[in-house]
Amino acid sequence: MTATETGPVGIPELEPERTGAQSEIPEFEPIAVAAEYEPPTAGIDPDQTKGWMKRLMPLLRAHRRTLVIGVVTGVFALATQVAVPAAGRSAVDAAITGDRRGMWIVAVLIAVFGVGRLVFGGVNRFYLFKLGWDVETDLRAIMYEHLTRLSFSYYDRTQSGDVISRANSDIRSLQLLLAFGPLISMNLLMFVMALGFMLYIHPWLALAALAPLPGVYWFGLKFRNQVFPLSWVTQARMTDLATIVDENVNGTRVVKSFAAEKRQIAQLGRSAQRIQWTNVEIAKSRSRWNPIIESLPRLGTAVVVLYGGWLAIEGRVSIGTLLAFSAYVIMLQVPFRMAGFVLMQGQRASAAAQRIYEILDEVPQIVDSPGAVDIVQPRGQVDFEAVCFGYNPETPVLDEFNLHIEPGERVAIVGSTGSGKSTVARLLDRFYDVDGGSVRIDGLDVRDVTLRSLRHTVGLVLDEPFLFSASVHENIAYGRPTASRAEVEAAASAAQAHGFISELAHGYDTVVGERGYTLSGGQRQRIAIARTLLANPKVLVLDDATSAIDVTVEEAIHRALQELMADRTTIIIAHRLSTISLAERVVVLDGGRVANSGTHAELLATDPHYVEILARHSDHESGDVSGNGDGSMTSRNGR
Ligand SMILES: Nc1ncnc2c1ncn2[C@@H]1O[C@H](COP(=O)(O)OP(=O)(O)O)[C@@H](O)[C@H]1O
Ligand SMILES: [Mg+2]
Repeated sequence: MTATETGPVGIPELEPERTGAQSEIPEFEPIAVAAEYEPPTAGIDPDQTKGWMKRLMPLLRAHRRTLVIGVVTGVFALATQVAVPAAGRSAVDAAITGDRRGMWIVAVLIAVFGVGRLVFGGVNRFYLFKLGWDVETDLRAIMYEHLTRLSFSYYDRTQSGDVISRANSDIRSLQLLLAFGPLISMNLLMFVMALGFMLYIHPWLALAALAPLPGVYWFGLKFRNQVFPLSWVTQARMTDLATIVDENVNGTRVVKSFAAEKRQIAQLGRSAQRIQWTNVEIAKSRSRWNPIIESLPRLGTAVVVLYGGWLAIEGRVSIGTLLAFSAYVIMLQVPFRMAGFVLMQGQRASAAAQRIYEILDEVPQIVDSPGAVDIVQPRGQVDFEAVCFGYNPETPVLDEFNLHIEPGERVAIVGSTGSGKSTVARLLDRFYDVDGGSVRIDGLDVRDVTLRSLRHTVGLVLDEPFLFSASVHENIAYGRPTASRAEVEAAASAAQAHGFISELAHGYDTVVGERGYTLSGGQRQRIAIARTLLANPKVLVLDDATSAIDVTVEEAIHRALQELMADRTTIIIAHRLSTISLAERVVVLDGGRVANSGTHAELLATDPHYVEILARHSDHESGDVSGNGDGSMTSRNGR
């Protein structure tokens, strides 16, 4: 192994004479790099009694410049658009009466309107779309920030797929409404303006032209009533399909090992057919109603031609008026039909907003208490005092659990599966709060210290190591991104990971995790151990952290750990004798409390329950309970 010079909070070299060096662990200083990213300043209104649009106001207010520019330019764009037929009317009438000068003026005016429409329309669109994307970006950041603050109890009862769909498609629904909503609302304004012009020019002709519009509305309503439920069903079925695909991809080994591909394909096929059915139904409904809705307004044009033509022949309206009217009748239809889309999108966005707010309204259970202090210069004393805890009130896991661990002590916690060993570790890192009693570090209740300094002091290695889709180096340096390669290698060496990492194609730069190279369970565990060692916690908790590692490799890790543990409080949760024998004291957890404690040899000699627990696990792992536990076991019981 390469023992390297280490930085101020580096991994101590594995030389015997350096054991017990208290100075290796400095006082608390935050290890994460400074955020380069400015989170949004505004959030949603916390008042849950308000409507969803109202609750969005603080966020919209933060972007009011964009919104105001978008809306004002939009109004101008519409005004220039609506003014054109009116000007056209004067032009035609001027042409008919031979008024050349008037014609020129109007022609220039129309050109000015055209340019205005171009400029205002462009600015308007840009700002409104920008508003949609800005708010979407903010919502994502707010939601993710909130998700990181939510406690384990929230994740215990939430499906990750559900959170992901809320973070993706629901935010997208809101974004769509925010981008198109104002645009379409302004089209309604166009409707009003056009109508105003028409009523001003000739009220009766205007009313006649409007006659078919109630029909458009009525058929549009019928269409929406059919399509809206169908599109909800489609959405739900899409989620089902995504789940099936996800399971097939992630569970592909199980599928193949049972030769169950055909069954999976059939399941996928059924799910795809269900989506196809609803989509075809939507298409049917669309092909039935849409042509009607599109043709009806032509009736309006016909009415204008007929009634207007008659008025013109009678000399009661000018030809220009007739032309302007036809243009307005066509202009009216667009906003009228879009109103339906806004209503539909509005309903969808309202449902999406509720789903997003449900997450944002979730109150984090575990937060820094007011006046929480940092743990500075931890000694590593751990106390569980009369701790009562259960994930649900009906089933207590710990019941008056007492455990005192001296600074620098190595304690093994032994117990049958489900006895609450991992729970003890989670309570120490304050993943959950106790129901009764207290958990203390150096005499400080974990509820009175900052979470940041607590989790910096207590390092947890979990039995299911999660690796990010990043290089080995980045995975190990996760808790201290600024660590040098030498420091990362030192940590990896202590965790007996340096050897296999060096043999990877790109060494420490090999990408692992979901999108990278697949490591074995034991290799992942060793990287997870290195990751925690590099963060250099004063209290180290190994929760079944070596269960998938070969015994001989495990022994080497323990030899290295023995050096590293010297000035560190260590809690080892394990079943293997070789691991347990590393501890100075063994605590037997049973019935939610400490049933017995002593050295491994004492317990082996006096406690039949202890022998039974060890024997049960060595049955599973084909280990050797009769071994003397000093690390001389040679049977391979890695999984
Ligand atoms: N997140 C959770 N939600 C509800 N119950 C849990 C949760 N985690 C563990 N439990 C239950 O608490 C008990 C103790 O679990 P745990 O501490 O993981 O046991 P051990 O690590 O000793 O195997 C078990 O009965 C388990 O089913
Ligand atoms: Mg466990």
